[in-house]
Amino acid sequence: YRPLPATARAQLQDSAAAIVTLAPDSPTVRAARAELQRGLAGLLGRTPATPAAAIAATRLAAGSVVLARAADLPPSFAGQARLRALGPEGYLVQRTRLRDADVILIAANADTGLLYGSFAWLRALQTGTGAADRDLARIELASSPALPRRILDHWDNLDRTVERGYAGESIWNWWELPDVIDPRTTDYARANASLGINGAVLNNVNAKAAVLSAPFIAKAAAVAGVLRPYGMRVYLSVRWSTPLELGATKTADPLDPAVAAWWRAKADELYAAIPDFGGFLVKANSEGQPGPQDYGRNHAEGANMLARALAPHGGIVMWRAFVYNPASHPSQNNDRAAQAYEQFKPLDGSFDANVIVQVKNGPIDFQPREPVHPLFGAMPATPLMMEFQITKEYLGFATHLAYLGPLFEEALRFDTRAGGAAAPALTVAQVLEGGHDVAKVGGIAGVANIGSSRNWSGSDFDQANWYAFGRLAWDPLGDSRAIAREWAAQTWSTDARVTEPVTALMMRSREAVVDYMTPLGLHHIMGTGHHHGPAPWIDDLERPDWNPVYYHRAGRDGIGFERGAAGSKAVFQYAPEVARRFADPATTPSELLLWFHHLPWDYRMPSGRTLWQELVAHYDRGVAEAAALQAGWERVRPLVDARRGGDVAQRLARQHADAVWWRDACLAYFQHVSGLALPPGTRAPA
Ligand code: GCU
Repeated sequence: YRPLPATARAQLQDSAAAIVTLAPDSPTVRAARAELQRGLAGLLGRTPATPAAAIAATRLAAGSVVLARAADLPPSFAGQARLRALGPEGYLVQRTRLRDADVILIAANADTGLLYGSFAWLRALQTGTGAADRDLARIELASSPALPRRILDHWDNLDRTVERGYAGESIWNWWELPDVIDPRTTDYARANASLGINGAVLNNVNAKAAVLSAPFIAKAAAVAGVLRPYGMRVYLSVRWSTPLELGATKTADPLDPAVAAWWRAKADELYAAIPDFGGFLVKANSEGQPGPQDYGRNHAEGANMLARALAPHGGIVMWRAFVYNPASHPSQNNDRAAQAYEQFKPLDGSFDANVIVQVKNGPIDFQPREPVHPLFGAMPATPLMMEFQITKEYLGFATHLAYLGPLFEEALRFDTRAGGAAAPALTVAQVLEGGHDVAKVGGIAGVANIGSSRNWSGSDFDQANWYAFGRLAWDPLGDSRAIAREWAAQTWSTDARVTEPVTALMMRSREAVVDYMTPLGLHHIMGTGHHHGPAPWIDDLERPDWNPVYYHRAGRDGIGFERGAAGSKAVFQYAPEVARRFADPATTPSELLLWFHHLPWDYRMPSGRTLWQELVAHYDRGVAEAAALQAGWERVRPLVDARRGGDVAQRLARQHADAVWWRDACLAYFQHVSGLALPPGTRAPA
């Protein structure tokens, strides 16, 4: 919390001298009050008083900041009805008269809402938003989250390595827990609560059985104890074969009574240690992980068995739909992008009520651009959870600047048309909210980019992706540009000479990455394993669906993966209206063209160029954009601190070098397979 400019501070000179808590004491209320004290001390340079409850009960000083639940306010309080509509996590902030005093009221139905409201008010103060007349003493806010589950998935291993982590080792110090608790755990909880993120899966989806052993449960319980006051629950990823591996059962067949009994007992043990434990995240029968299919059972049979162990305690199962396999049967589609739908769509309606199916935003794997996953809108009888990846496995790690707000927004706002051609829009965001069925409300998860790096995310700009995820988890229809500006104001400076260009750089960054890595719908042509840098030539991996050549299919005749009628037919997994659009190259958006179609190199693009010329132009534009990011930052850099300014500059220089590498390697390879020359006027590959 940096000091507000003098003019802003002047507006608050008669306010915020005291923080008065009408809500009964609780760890969450104490956290809210402490945040307000810390925030106001930083922003205003003075520490507000916190009168004892007995004093607060008798008189309110004008200008006080008052924390009150609906139940603590008189029935006559004009905001009661509005407050009720905001639900258990919502909040209301307004200037109001209370007991004859003019106060700043932060009100909610429950303690967590008071905490969220406190953060929201501090954010509004910091960014100078929320007051129509820009008078910071009169900020008015009312908000509630659209989704009940807003979760970070940590892919953190028990040895503190982080799968796809680019920000140092895991923030969970499993060696020292539960005896020694890193104070950064509290800061982690504060950061999440400031956004409304209300859950954390502590460990990698590629889980180890040991996480359910008594020592690790005690460690998880210690973390849960720190997160609890901040409205966050702890969840664990579990390995399907845990009881078998621990030698407790002879099988992991979900229909075996001994297996189900083991999981019930384990759930009881977990809830004894962590009374508000959230539940399990499961990666089963995916990329070599064991699962119910090993015993001839389907995903629903597996998920439901676990769900029944958790149900008596109020826990949930988040069952991942990220499954694919090289075709083992002739009737199985050989297209990886089609396989999750094929396995899950027939199971719609057969999952227990406390199972949420967790679906990645696109049908392959967190690419710089993918079409929306066809399961969204296709499982109306099942709650679905969005899985985004905040850590940038395929977008240049923590080195490249790639603001993911527009990527998230693109997916959340996509209209699935699942209601039918005549029906109103059914966006992915609405699907997550249960469509028209409140019983089918799902949630949103983001694979965290957090580690013990000093700046949490490996680079300063990657903090924005954690931030944008949290803001969009709260409000899936939020505007990614507004979120970028808000983040920039809080992170770099409220000076418009900084916020405006920083926002502009952020907003063009993701498209730059798409252009220099995988333009026009290309995908998964990154180097195998590490997924950093180009390798479209790889064709000899043990599984065909891991080879980049499987995805781009470039040859003399053309390039792209045909998923229409003449190919894998994956387009027909979308609602008919969408399928029609994607089935025809003429109506497929050009940014997804080669995702859905294999086309000749001389295919005529809407721009008038041939497909080959267009591809080259996109790669060139990507490189030019990477250079523009660098140049743009150099103009901002004198206005920010030298340390962060320099760090960003180094990363952008590397990003530009990587962009050149991507362009030159990909174009040289595509030339090699197509036999085509570079269009005149194009820079020859180095
Ligand atoms: C990607 C990623 C893996 C991860 C997997 C998953 O394939 O490369 O590291 O385990 O996704 O989401 O399960």
